[in-house]
Amino acid sequence: MAHNFEFYAPTKVIFGKDTEKQVGQQVKLYGASHVLIVYGGGSIIRSGLLDKVKESLQNEAIAFTELGGVVPNPHLDKVYEGIRIGKGKKTDFLLAVGGGSVIDTAKAIAYGLAEPDKDVWELYEHARTAKKCLPIACVLTIAAAGSETSKSSVITDEKNGLKRSYGSNLARPVFAIMNPQYTMTLPDYQTESGCVDIMMHTMERYFTNGGNMEITDSLAEGLLRTVMKNAILLHTDPQNYEARAEVMWAGSLSHNDLTGCGNDGGDFMSHKLEHEMGGMFDVTHGAGLAAVWPSWARYVKSDCLHRFVRYARNVMGVQLEGTDEEIAEAGIRAMEDFYHQIGMPTNMKELGIEPTDEQIHEMAVSCMAVCGGKGGSAKVLKLEDVEKIYHMAK
Ligand code: NZQ
Ligand code: ZN
Repeated sequence: MAHNFEFYAPTKVIFGKDTEKQVGQQVKLYGASHVLIVYGGGSIIRSGLLDKVKESLQNEAIAFTELGGVVPNPHLDKVYEGIRIGKGKKTDFLLAVGGGSVIDTAKAIAYGLAEPDKDVWELYEHARTAKKCLPIACVLTIAAAGSETSKSSVITDEKNGLKRSYGSNLARPVFAIMNPQYTMTLPDYQTESGCVDIMMHTMERYFTNGGNMEITDSLAEGLLRTVMKNAILLHTDPQNYEARAEVMWAGSLSHNDLTGCGNDGGDFMSHKLEHEMGGMFDVTHGAGLAAVWPSWARYVKSDCLHRFVRYARNVMGVQLEGTDEEIAEAGIRAMEDFYHQIGMPTNMKELGIEPTDEQIHEMAVSCMAVCGGKGGSAKVLKLEDVEKIYHMAK
């Protein structure tokens, strides 16, 4: 039966070639007087995008300061640096130019500047709720995290190896500029990790035991098939604009909650498992998800069999006649084949990490602390379950 839901997707999406030229005009609509431009390790300098963004702001006489150097699995220290700079400059608008790590950093800075007397990390510890947040916008350069339309932000306390997320509608970007051409400079590994992440945002909402709706399932299955098809195309033809465009738009739709309307909120345990791996080993998020998902799927499938069978048939195209367990297993195997086809791992060894038993225990304990002792919808997992899944994924 369909669950009641609210669907709130306020981000204005400006999509297509040359759209980055509109950034100044768009920022002006929000009355910004001092913008903090946040970016990463330099890809936007090499592609020329940063110069275009600055020119567009200058054309509208909008003042700005730059904060570069955000790393993947973005660090809390960079957030504090941004808050310090923003206070000094009286920043009233955050412009993220980059991917999930950059946008998430901008969101965290925006929270910190809006409530300057409080420590922003308390949000990520879930010790309080955000009451305010400055406006954030973005120019997206990688299709992956979906942060351009999502309410989430994921930050790593690098000193303690803790990767934590916080979500609030206050932090949904006011606009997102998406020109697929700018994703063509991505290293293949990032393109492919991005495709895995996009699919996972829909799969986390698909493998549930509550409230699934036909319209939502159809949207989800179409999105998943489209991303798979275009991920394979991009693996051999990374300059394919149409494929870049399909994947980029899918990334936003996958994590703006559209594919969760009417269900119980999703499972999200694969994400929680991966966040611990990211916090401890600094792995690329999408690749980490690919490494853990098959083990999670095999562990939970009997408790959510009807969804795994539907997935095998409608997404992976499994035609095998057999028991539901056999069809579900064939779907998981087909998914592993797809991951390998695009150069993604299906376990931690292929990912390049070999955690010890102690490290697995540590990750499992930390994961359960985030979940309040149990979590998941396809199957409710506790500490011993999570530990077993990590061992299966070794
Ligand atoms: O730093 P630069 O030089 O820009 O290089 C980046 C970085 O090395 C590079 N890159 C990005 N666009 C490029 C490019 N290189 C060449 N050309 C381009 N056009 O790609 C690398 C990865 O960037 P990153 O921003 O880390 O990627 P992604 O968008 O996958 O973000 C990952 C982060 O988002 C979090 C993840 O956990 C991870 O920390 N997530 C955020 C979510 C959210 N806010 O809703 C949800 C997700 O589930 C996820 O957890
Ligand atoms: Zn993700």
